[in-house]
Amino acid sequence: MTTLKTPILTLVLSAVSAVIQTILVSFIAYKISGLFDLAITLLSFFISFIVSFFVIYFLYNTIIFEKIDKLYLLVKSQQPKEIPNTEFQLDEVDSIERLEDEIKKLAQERHKESEQTRNLDSYRKEFLGNVSHELKTPIFNIQGYISTLIDGGINDPTINIEYLKRADKSVDRMIQIIDDLETISQLEVGTLELELEKYDIAQQVKDVIEALEFQASKKGIKFQLSKKYDKAIFVKADKFRIRQVLVNLITNSIKYGKDNGKTTISINLFDEQVIIEIKDNGIGIAEKHLPRLFERFYRVDKGRSREQGGTGLGLAIVKHIIEAHGETIDVISTINEGTAISFTLKRSN
Ligand SMILES: Nc1ncnc2c1ncn2[C@@H]1O[C@H](COP(=O)(O)OP(=O)(O)OP(=O)(O)O)[C@@H](O)[C@H]1O
Ligand SMILES: [Mg+2]
Repeated sequence: MTTLKTPILTLVLSAVSAVIQTILVSFIAYKISGLFDLAITLLSFFISFIVSFFVIYFLYNTIIFEKIDKLYLLVKSQQPKEIPNTEFQLDEVDSIERLEDEIKKLAQERHKESEQTRNLDSYRKEFLGNVSHELKTPIFNIQGYISTLIDGGINDPTINIEYLKRADKSVDRMIQIIDDLETISQLEVGTLELELEKYDIAQQVKDVIEALEFQASKKGIKFQLSKKYDKAIFVKADKFRIRQVLVNLITNSIKYGKDNGKTTISINLFDEQVIIEIKDNGIGIAEKHLPRLFERFYRVDKGRSREQGGTGLGLAIVKHIIEAHGETIDVISTINEGTAISFTLKRSN
């Protein structure tokens, strides 16, 4: 339909122009000879129509279309796509409509881009605010301990060693935050290269459980494997990074688990993948928090998390690591009942 619009428009304009010219010619002829000659009128209409048609066609093609072509090329060059042949012909395409389409598309893209820039900007501001806020706490603590020691506390044997130990702990906390931030930025920029190797995930799960058992026992939390897993289950993954994932998820199950609770770890085998699930019967997470859970610094209950020494970077790192492997991570949680987080890994034979 659109391709017909321009030729039809040219025909209509030519006809209108021809009618006007014919009326004028007939009127002049009538004035001169006092007669109305149908043959002259028809001839005049025919000639005017042909001349008008070619004049309009020429104007369209050479002046307007040339300009449209240039505009179209300019609009197209703003888009990252390939530029097709844009030589328009009157009877081929309606370039005005195509131009309109391209301009609309371009406007939509620009709108999307500016929205993304705005989001990134507020994300960056929020991120900087979070980093400085998180670092302030240990820095102020260290400052407090040192000031007390300078003001005479250094000579008080009841507090001097204790305050130095506390300051040392705050330094550790700062180092941990900076390490986490470094890991996140490496994962985001893509400079962190995974070292993929074939190893036994069942053994690794057992090792991590053993390492965290003492921490869990302080809350009376018991670890449970859903099966014995006495045969090796080989995966192809970055062993160090996956250990980081397991430590983070199992630590969360302790931190946000109920006293005397239970954490169950299962490894489910599929043809090409394994799914590792860490399930607790702890405080759970309300549904409204789930979509933002993996964001940097996101904590459901800031007070509780900070009390546990959490920064809210753990799950962001976990997600990045899993995605860097090309795998997925999922969370199911019910408040006051518990949380199950599962991720996939590639099997290796
Ligand atoms: N198993 C869980 N049960 C209940 N809430 C959880 C669980 N795991 C994570 N959360 C919630 O998700 C938030 C984000 O977890 P994440 O591991 O990213 O941070 P964190 O544990 O607070 O700090 P970090 O891991 O950086 O030390 C936690 O603050 C907590 O509110
Ligand atoms: Mg954590």
